[in-house]
Amino acid sequence: MTSTHTDLPVAQFLGGDWVDSATTMPVHNPATGAQIATVADGDEATAIAALDAAAAAQADWAGTDPRHRSDILLRAFGLLHAETDRIARTITLEMGKPLAEARGEVGYGAEFLRWFAEEATRGSGAYFRAPSGGGRIAVRKQPVGPVFAITPWNFPLAMVTRKVAPALAAGCTVVLKPAPQTPLTALEFMRILVEAGVPPGVVNCVTTSRAPLVSAPIIADRRLRKLTFTGSTAVGRTLLTQAAQGVLRVSMELGGNAPFVVLESADLDKAVGGAVLAKLRNAGQACVAADRFLVHEALAAEFTERFLAAVSALPLGDGLDRSTRLGPVIDGAAVRRITALIDEAVDGGAHLHTVGPDIDRPGHFVRPAVLTDVDTRSRLWSSEVFGPVAAIRTFTDPAQALHLANDTDAGLAGYVFGENLGDTLEFAENLRTGMVGVNTGVISDPAAPFGGMKSSGLGREGGSTGLAEYQEMQYLAIAR
Ligand code: SIN
Repeated sequence: MTSTHTDLPVAQFLGGDWVDSATTMPVHNPATGAQIATVADGDEATAIAALDAAAAAQADWAGTDPRHRSDILLRAFGLLHAETDRIARTITLEMGKPLAEARGEVGYGAEFLRWFAEEATRGSGAYFRAPSGGGRIAVRKQPVGPVFAITPWNFPLAMVTRKVAPALAAGCTVVLKPAPQTPLTALEFMRILVEAGVPPGVVNCVTTSRAPLVSAPIIADRRLRKLTFTGSTAVGRTLLTQAAQGVLRVSMELGGNAPFVVLESADLDKAVGGAVLAKLRNAGQACVAADRFLVHEALAAEFTERFLAAVSALPLGDGLDRSTRLGPVIDGAAVRRITALIDEAVDGGAHLHTVGPDIDRPGHFVRPAVLTDVDTRSRLWSSEVFGPVAAIRTFTDPAQALHLANDTDAGLAGYVFGENLGDTLEFAENLRTGMVGVNTGVISDPAAPFGGMKSSGLGREGGSTGLAEYQEMQYLAIAR
């Protein structure tokens, strides 16, 4: 079934069938506020139907050869590339990011398929003589079982492929619940997986505006073995509590509040270029986005001036317009939340530099803003911004900058710029974040372990350990 507005699929994908629902929900374009599609609004019955299908398909899928699973993932990689224009347009329509960034997301998202297609074929295990005697110890890996994957709206394709690709590679079946704001890209991806040869029931997709109604019964069902979630720390905590009942394996990619540190030895061209990427990719709506800028006092005035100039050169508008470099934020609630963070920081003494003309158009737009002298007690400093707003403070002593950088419960990403290699690497190593960009504002890479320390999450996605998140280890004690 397709929408009348777009030709995108709008039904749930359950057990290999497109299933209509009596209850539907609207999907909006954040750049205009207009409704672009109506999709099925899943409930408890849909959730259980999806898990039924995943559980029924689990044994057969786990029994397939790794090479077979790898070939399917590689076909999906090729199909995604072949459909880059169409998928990128869908991402822009429902999420708002500029088309060039959406095309970048298709490439990034597809790369998880290729990476895990390759990882699927790398067998691993152990066989050795027990130190205490003549027995043998053998260790093998097996798929953990049916997976429930809950994905966010900010990367509607890449956050899905980051979870679905390793699950399929490991031999797990999946129930996917995409964010209610961005179900269309996920449904497009289901169509691509079918075309690539994924059998019925191996992947299922439940779209819903009522997340707890769908999530709770799936997580409580003892057939589920793994929960993987990307989203806010608050929701992650609730899901962890639910998952504890079934002692589920979990992967949690939660909120960040990334420090961006410019040491005295930094090259300002690199630092400003890195700041634009780390802050304004996806209009700041990334969990790895730089939020707290700590700039050495000797460079602060010039850094701020050049950063403001670079940001004001980015045309703001509808992502479908090819000249746009900065799109809207996801919805009206995001506009209100970000505006409140700015207002409170200004009330607390921060100096506001807004960038670009007033926005006089429908849709959910926030003018980029840079604030200096931001109080560390303000919510702008201490919480995840998820918008195009940068808070800057200066420092003279790197030890003071390190203390401020680490003075947060979040520990996902951090960035440090400096040309003195020894000092810069030492600073990077002392940051309590799971990922650090050293002289770069871009850290995401399917071949690298993505994840956080402290309350930013559990586990790592991607990289050479990403497959293990979907595998169970079994040890065989073999008598002599
Ligand atoms: C995220 O914001 O959740 C992920 C960003 C990325 O993969 O770069």
